[in-house]
Amino acid sequence: MTFAHPSLHHEPMPPFIGGTPVHLADTFAHDVLEGLSLPEKSIPPTWLYDATGCELFEAITDLPEYYPTRTEIGILRRCVGEIAEAVGPGAVVVEIGSGSSRKTPLLLHALESPQAYVPIDIADDSLVGAIPPLAARFPQIRFYPTVGDFRRPLVLPSALRDFSGRHLGFFPGSTIGNLRPHEAEECLANIRATLGRHALLVLGVDITRDPAVLLPAYDDAQGITAHFNLNLLARINRELDGNFDLHRFRHMVRYDHRRPRIEMHLVSTKDQHVRVLGQEFRFAEGETLHTENSYKYRLTELAPVARASGWMTENVWTDPDARFAVMLLSAMD
Ligand code: AVI
Repeated sequence: MTFAHPSLHHEPMPPFIGGTPVHLADTFAHDVLEGLSLPEKSIPPTWLYDATGCELFEAITDLPEYYPTRTEIGILRRCVGEIAEAVGPGAVVVEIGSGSSRKTPLLLHALESPQAYVPIDIADDSLVGAIPPLAARFPQIRFYPTVGDFRRPLVLPSALRDFSGRHLGFFPGSTIGNLRPHEAEECLANIRATLGRHALLVLGVDITRDPAVLLPAYDDAQGITAHFNLNLLARINRELDGNFDLHRFRHMVRYDHRRPRIEMHLVSTKDQHVRVLGQEFRFAEGETLHTENSYKYRLTELAPVARASGWMTENVWTDPDARFAVMLLSAMD
């Protein structure tokens, strides 16, 4: 994979592989084989995002039922000036789980002379698609696309040492909600360690609790989310020599009030056997493969989680219906 990069004199730019030195494909195989062997089958949601999964997720963000993206963009439009003032000039912006980088221009336009932008994503396809057009829009900013898994400690490109500006983490979209609470705390602590002293972090969090709003957001009328979920099985078939019959599984979503979280599952509609990388797994009729959690927080719950992982809450902005929040956190010494 190469990037034509305007601020690097049109030289092709290979992505920096950040994070722990693991081969991402091996991790996919490992997570799938391990997840299918569990008494309650589950696969981490990271693996929903191959090229097709990224495209389907982008389509989800435009669905009438999926409120988080447009709500967060509305909040960011209103608060980005205040964020820019807090950050000051010459920032180095590090986006965690950058995907399509759709919200990034809002931030880069508002900041005073940002110096560098480091989009980090596990899906190199989405970096290839999203970054060159963005880099062309901001020729004065250095771009360092980085492949990395934010579930693990991240290592930033060494070239960032040349920049003196403040590090600003950008972790929008409530992606933090796809981690279990202890993983979310660990992830925020890792981001704190990666970004260093004096860093700031803009964190987007879904705070909706109403099942009448949540359930359609994850089970839309057009079936795009169902397709997104089932694509995990298609990906296993493509990449891990699997033989899932996609017609024998259906998308299912439920809301767990106690935790509280949305759960996405694939339900086996028949008693069946499936083969992946030469190993056979049995699914009973009605048995589910758990593919994603999306935790919904209270702001009063999130500030202590942030504090425990080294972040002070400086400011919080929400929408009029209190569905989503954007938090500005500062690294504690
Ligand atoms: C990426 N993440 C924040 C989305 C969410 O809302 O949890 C993923 C998603 N899954 C189904 N729809 C959207």
